[in-house]
Order: sequence, then C-alpha cells, then structure tokens
Amino acid sequence: MNTIKHAIEIVEMDEAELTAEELRVMNVAKEATHRSYAPYSHFSVGAAVLLENGEIVSGSNQENCAYPSGLCAERTTLFYANANYPDQPVKMLCIAARGTNGEFTEMPVAPCGACRQVMTETEQRFNTPMRVILYGSKGIYAVQSARDLLPVCFDNDCLI
Ligand code: THU
Repeated sequence: MNTIKHAIEIVEMDEAELTAEELRVMNVAKEATHRSYAPYSHFSVGAAVLLENGEIVSGSNQENCAYPSGLCAERTTLFYANANYPDQPVKMLCIAARGTNGEFTEMPVAPCGACRQVMTETEQRFNTPMRVILYGSKGIYAVQSARDLLPVCFDNDCLI
C-alpha cells in the first residue's frame, strides 16, 4: 500500500495585495455579477478571464426554470472565450458572487466540480496555467493553476 499526498498552495490575501492586472480582471468579474440571471437561487455569480492577447471576457450564471438547463458563470465565460477566441490561452480566471442579501460573499466563492472540469480542460488545451482568483469580501484565495483545484482529474489522457 502507498499513500499519495497531493499538496496545493492557496494564497490568501486581501484586495490591496492583488496586482493591478489582477484587480482589473477581478473588478470585471464583480461587475458581471450584475448581469447574472438568477431568479431561482438569487445567487449572482460573475466570472472574468484574461486572455493571452490582453482582452478580458466576462460572464455570469444564467439560470432556467428547468433548473439543470442553467449554467454557472465560469462555464458561461470559458465557453464564450473558447468559442470566440479559440487560439487564445486563458491566463487568469477571477470569480465573485453576491448572495441573497445583494452583498459580495464574505468567503471566497469556489467553483463547482463541473466548472473545475472545464477549467482544467481549457488549461490543458492551451498548455498554459490558468491563475484562479476567488473573491470574498473578507479574503481572497488564489491558486497558480486550475489543476490545483482538481487533483486526480479525468482528462483526455484518460480516453484510450
Ligand atoms: N454557480 C456558479 O455560477 N458558479 C459556481 O461556481 C457555483 C454556483 C451558480 C449556479 C446557480 O445559478 C447558482 O450559482 C446557485 O447554485
């Protein structure tokens, strides 16, 4: 028997510690929460990605009365980016969310498992690490790579 340990580094910081570029992308993600369509959960998520060419693309969660037909902010954003800029690596993804009280969550908002799956494939597709920054009004988490959030994942190397 063998134990495999997987250590990841999550940097916790406050807004003042973001670089100017990170702050710009994070502010776009925060703005995008206002374009969320969340009449069912009232949980408004915004995401923004920084592309290799310097462009920033944003998206938000889009719900539907047939609940599973809706889509999270991260996948809305990444699919839009990959559909419209298929040659552009995604260098950074920022996520923010406002809860039912309309305020940004105090804790950093974490992407769901399905979004992590799409994030890792985007990273693998472009062979470029995607810095992921999760906003909370009382603290921000940052990881260097989407893969950090999904160890032992199913990727296209698994397809034989
Ligand atoms: N949601 C996201 O957009 N991203 C996440 O990472 C977690 C959840 C959305 C889905 C749904 O519209 C609402 O938040 C409540 O789950």
